[in-house]
Amino acid sequence: MGIRIRKTAKYLPKRIVPNSEFETFLDTSDQWISERTGIKKRHFSSKEEDTSQIALMACEALGLTEEEKEKIDAIFVATFTPDIVAPSIAASLQAPLGLQEELFAIDFNMGCSGYVAGLHLAEAFLKNKRMALVLGAEVISKVLDMHDRTTAVIFADGAGVTLVEKNEDAIYFDEGTRSNLKDIYVPGIQVDVPLGALSMQGKNVFRFASRTLPDSMERTLAKAGIRGEDVSHIVCHQANSRIIEHVAKKAGLPISRFFMNIDRMGNTSSASLPIALDDMVKNNQIKPGQWVMLMGFGAGFSWVTALFKW
Ligand code: COA
Repeated sequence: MGIRIRKTAKYLPKRIVPNSEFETFLDTSDQWISERTGIKKRHFSSKEEDTSQIALMACEALGLTEEEKEKIDAIFVATFTPDIVAPSIAASLQAPLGLQEELFAIDFNMGCSGYVAGLHLAEAFLKNKRMALVLGAEVISKVLDMHDRTTAVIFADGAGVTLVEKNEDAIYFDEGTRSNLKDIYVPGIQVDVPLGALSMQGKNVFRFASRTLPDSMERTLAKAGIRGEDVSHIVCHQANSRIIEHVAKKAGLPISRFFMNIDRMGNTSSASLPIALDDMVKNNQIKPGQWVMLMGFGAGFSWVTALFKW
């Protein structure tokens, strides 16, 4: 048994921030950001927009039918930037979306691996159920120190959602965790200390990702008994175009197999993969029956890879 992605949708905040905007208050340049990360612009939410709202907007864009609403048994929301600690964003979605109350609704945090982790959870949950919403939603701009050029130019806001249902085809996963509490870090609520900004040791993260992803890809392909050449679309978390290029080279696969939208999205963490899938679907890039590999990685350190037929 496996799962099938039935529908995709996204919501991107209206405000688009080009690299040139950072040049006005940071010691940086459009050229440095483009060359070192692949990012040219990104979306930042307005003061009023929070993670719950953009998650809801993304879900509304799915255009759920009455039949689908009745069949949704779970909501999995991946986020490390929830606007409130409790209740969960997942719980807040039930009534506005008109979903039935016999619903398992949960938020979880697995950094940028969150969306693929959500598919993993959905696959386990749906064994005896029908459909689930799997989301990644982040308003990272609100935990950025805009005067830290090593993080401000990289992260971005957005929400992506998929409606998944169970099917007969297998889905293959590879996952891992390696305790690292300093290389990507966002302080939580501490007595008398306001919420602090995200900090990142970019070089260490780069090293972790470029060593871990090729190994995870190999293990996942072995589980499915197929070769890299058989996979039509490899969609890596959009963290840095140079990481993706490295993975392609290590795997000996053409870069054209690797989807990229980081140039216009930046790094939206858990939202990056469902946003990427929605872009691919809207551009008619994925065809039924094609093998698709999703690779999430990030804070923790953590990684989750999924391989399945579209
Ligand atoms: N503009 C201009 N210069 C910058 C800069 C910016 N926005 N950010 C950093 N620099 C400078 C550094 O201060 C450093 O200067 P120095 O040599 O005088 O000390 C120089 O550029 C090189 O910094 P370094 O950190 O070695 O750059 P890098 O090539 O590793 O690129 C990242 C930095 C963050 C782009 C890169 O490490 C990266 O993408 N890492 C992975 C991050 C990631 O994937 N995070 C999300 C995981 S989910």
